[in-house]
Amino acid sequence: MGQPGAMKSSGALAPLALFSTLLFLALYAKTVLALFLAEDFESVSLDMNVHSVHKRVNERFLSVTIDASLVAEERFMYLLGSPKLRALAKALTPAFLRFGGTKQDFMKFNPQSEYLSSKSNSRKSVHYQGYSCDRFELPPLLEDKLKQEWTLQTSLLHQEELQRKYKKVKFSEYAVDLLYSFANCSGLDLIFGLNALLRTPGNTWDSQNAEVLTSYCESRHYVMSWELGNEPNSYEKKAGIRIDGHQLGQDFLHLRNILQESKLYHSSGLYGPDVGQPREHHKDILTEFLETAADAIDATTWHHYYVNGRDASLEDFLDPQVLDTLAVKTNEVLETVLSVSPMKKVWLGETSSAYGGGAMGLSDTFVAGFMWLDKLGLAAKMGLDVVMRQVLIGSGTYHLVDDNLDPLPDYWLSVLYKRLVGPEVLKAGVLSNSVPKRLLRVYLHCTNRNSSSYRQGAVTLFTLNLSKHQINISLPARISNSSIKAFVLQSAEPGEKGLYSRAIKLNGALLKMVDERTLPPLSGAEVPLGEPLKLPGLSFAFYILQQAHAAVC
Ligand SMILES: *[C@@H]1O[C@H](CO)[C@@H](O)[C@H](O)[C@H]1NC(C)=O
Ligand SMILES: *[C@@H]1O[C@H](CO)[C@@H](O)[C@H](O)[C@H]1NC(C)=O
Ligand SMILES: *[C@@H]1O[C@H](CO)[C@@H](O)[C@H](O)[C@H]1NC(C)=O
Ligand SMILES: *[C@@H]1O[C@H](CO)[C@@H](O)[C@H](O)[C@H]1NC(C)=O
Ligand SMILES: *[C@@H]1O[C@H](CO)[C@@H](O)[C@H](O)[C@H]1NC(C)=O
Repeated sequence: MGQPGAMKSSGALAPLALFSTLLFLALYAKTVLALFLAEDFESVSLDMNVHSVHKRVNERFLSVTIDASLVAEERFMYLLGSPKLRALAKALTPAFLRFGGTKQDFMKFNPQSEYLSSKSNSRKSVHYQGYSCDRFELPPLLEDKLKQEWTLQTSLLHQEELQRKYKKVKFSEYAVDLLYSFANCSGLDLIFGLNALLRTPGNTWDSQNAEVLTSYCESRHYVMSWELGNEPNSYEKKAGIRIDGHQLGQDFLHLRNILQESKLYHSSGLYGPDVGQPREHHKDILTEFLETAADAIDATTWHHYYVNGRDASLEDFLDPQVLDTLAVKTNEVLETVLSVSPMKKVWLGETSSAYGGGAMGLSDTFVAGFMWLDKLGLAAKMGLDVVMRQVLIGSGTYHLVDDNLDPLPDYWLSVLYKRLVGPEVLKAGVLSNSVPKRLLRVYLHCTNRNSSSYRQGAVTLFTLNLSKHQINISLPARISNSSIKAFVLQSAEPGEKGLYSRAIKLNGALLKMVDERTLPPLSGAEVPLGEPLKLPGLSFAFYILQQAHAAVC
């Protein structure tokens, strides 16, 4: 469901039947786009409804995470002071930055200074007083040293993940300062994940440590929002502790009370319960949680990965059936939420291609873009309000920015999505039942109005070609005299080998930063009037139809 290919279709269309279908639709004020396959002249047509908004998602729809494991060795938090990383993060705003993950439930705040008794007197606090963003900048020499050490650290973290034995860690106020300044100076909205595995003997949440942390953050005027616990459905496996949905709900109500008493956080966001994706055995936790605590939260969060990083294959990343599993899981979650608290927004609170840190040689390459872009398209179409990509930076291979803090293909894809795609989701689907329909995935939104160069009424079509050859997309007369900007993304290397590439081309030109603080212009290519759109095989693209005259855009 929710797939273009699953929309009503009229079988293998003869040319005449196609023509009358087109005419019929045109009469009903829909815009029809015809696709003509280069090789066999089979035709595929798209149905685009530009007259009503199907769903509207959050302005911060595409958001990112940093895994809490970054704080396992606190000095690596200094990486967040890298000017390059900040420039990259800035280009992804507006967005949430979630700091959480497995490690969050093994972390304790352990302040070093005396801020509670003598707020600003501590020498170290003064250093962060009235801070300016420049002050947190990581000097190049230190950045290089840290990056070298980080390589070793990531393999240690990976081991820990594999062994599922999580070391407890402590973090100081400096770690919090570095995290907050990164978020604030980049313009990201910080969401901090609190430890839910601090329990009292009666197995209720022990909020003491969280209260020390929130009062520290309040003393610093850090504007942020909160979560509590990560994937509570697997606490037994991770820590030998069982918490049911009802109890977790009680814990959230307790946290909401604490926040309500704070001047700064009385109306700040609280999101949860960050459950893993629905599986046979742990369906009840979300229902019970919502029955107890729906009023305490601003959005319901769940996590999704398509495949296990250890045995994922290249084919998985291009398999329409694998991509469709997101729709199945999303439906299950939406049904649960709808039955208990129908108005509650639903977020993908942590999500990526493959769990267990990503799939080696795949999650950080060009081919990962098929899962990522399809997830963005499908999630919005189904009404998920926010999608938080695991991770912006951090260990594993599903990061957007690599260990040298250089952007990977999914980063560039994300930036383009931010610039070009607006929060209004329109309906588009493949009408014809032709052979390659499942290999052609299409999504349609209003063009992001913040991209000032596009006029009102413009729409952004984004398409993924999961097969190997080029297709020509011919627009019908009504739209074909609209000027079109194409942003075609391809691997920087040719052929199948290119799928494994960590470099990506936009309209034929390699994407890379201009310098440590500057992104390239990312401009579209004008499609000559009347010419078909040419989408190469194994690629994806955004098309701005500038004169679509969509009244809702
Ligand atoms: C598709 O475009 C290519 C290049 O412009 C052209 O050679 C080919 O004839 C086109 N095919 C169709 C079916 O329009
Ligand atoms: C557009 O810009 C405004 C003002 O900066 C911002 O509040 C809003 O979130 C942006 N929306 C999108 C979709 O980028
Ligand atoms: C966050 O950044 C803005 C500038 O972008 C600054 O004015 C504000 O003081 C910062 N907030 C805190 C708590 O430092
Ligand atoms: C991608 O290329 C293949 C080549 O066989 C074609 O069949 C398919 O329709 C194309 N899809 C898109 C979206 O261009
Ligand atoms: C586009 O074509 C339609 C119908 O063929 C015509 O009415 C309209 O004026 C054209 N628009 C532009 C911008 O050329």
